[in-house]
Amino acid sequence: MWSWRNPTEVRFGEGLFRGLKKVVEPFDRILVLTGPTFVKKSGLINVIEEQLKGKEWHWYDEVLPEPTWDVVQRAVDFARDYKPRCVVGVGGGSVLDTSKLVASFVDKPFGVRDFIGKRVELERSVFSVCVPTTSGSGSEVTPYCVVMDREREIKAPVTSSANYPDVALDDPALTRGAPFEVTRNAGVDALSHCLEAYLSRRANPVTELFSVDGMRLVFKYLKNALRDEPVARRKMMLASLYGGFAISNAGAGLIHQLGHALTVLKGLSHGYTMGIFMVPVLELYGDAVRERLSRLERALGIKYFLGFLNRFLKELGIPGFNELSLSEEEKRKLVKIVMKREHVLKLLPATVDEYQLLKFLEEYEG
Ligand SMILES: [Fe+2]
Repeated sequence: MWSWRNPTEVRFGEGLFRGLKKVVEPFDRILVLTGPTFVKKSGLINVIEEQLKGKEWHWYDEVLPEPTWDVVQRAVDFARDYKPRCVVGVGGGSVLDTSKLVASFVDKPFGVRDFIGKRVELERSVFSVCVPTTSGSGSEVTPYCVVMDREREIKAPVTSSANYPDVALDDPALTRGAPFEVTRNAGVDALSHCLEAYLSRRANPVTELFSVDGMRLVFKYLKNALRDEPVARRKMMLASLYGGFAISNAGAGLIHQLGHALTVLKGLSHGYTMGIFMVPVLELYGDAVRERLSRLERALGIKYFLGFLNRFLKELGIPGFNELSLSEEEKRKLVKIVMKREHVLKLLPATVDEYQLLKFLEEYEG
């Protein structure tokens, strides 16, 4: 038995951002959340200004990458004073996650920090719109908002159905001209979503369609997207959307848990850490995913998925786990952080315990 649910309306197309006006037409007091640089530097803010002309709105540009709970809480607190009717996030995964949480938490009496790594059911009363400017997180169609807490050494999502935006505006033109690292890391993140959802115990025939086709798109188009080729940019936005759809129902797995822990420990960007752990995790799963991977090889027309993936990531300049040269202490810490996510570990395709994971990382040679 399985079920599928995703309530977000997706509008996809080149130049679609110029239709933002229509999407937010019924609302006044619009809060636009962005990061501090891209929207200004790219001139996108001028388009936003033009689209919201005549409306009462505010631009909040203090959302930082890999946001910690205090960054997110500041945005929520600002919104509590401003009292928006509509929240629009324009940016990468960090901005979208934050804007979704702002929309969900703005009229609630509790703080964000207590819900990191937890599911909470809420009624959202504010309209929520997400506009991705990178192709990777798929956050515009997921119920997850990832938040980091350095003191408690955790990076995990606040999960809620209320976090699904009302509308996702996917305009591939917004990703044009993004720097190499941003495009690569986001693309690798999209790949990790498709792969983790594919291997998840919660995978179903619908998530599998998105997973397989998403992977096919990343393998075919990411390198051309890095050369800023418009068709490839469009296909990568589709891959990111597919990855988001896949994890929205099937969830992520150990690659994400290890990657989040590495970001807590070393501050590395999310997509980059996904690339580092993809191959090691598949090796750790071993026989438990052999059959699934054979099926994937047939679907993608690839002879040996693990070898293919390894080459693909190397060509993109993603280092092997050992190249990080983590100390024994750091590896122990990494595993400790992962083990805090006990309920997620139960959904992995293979049983993984603390001792086994630490031993695997200590002896890993790739
Ligand atoms: Fe991710």
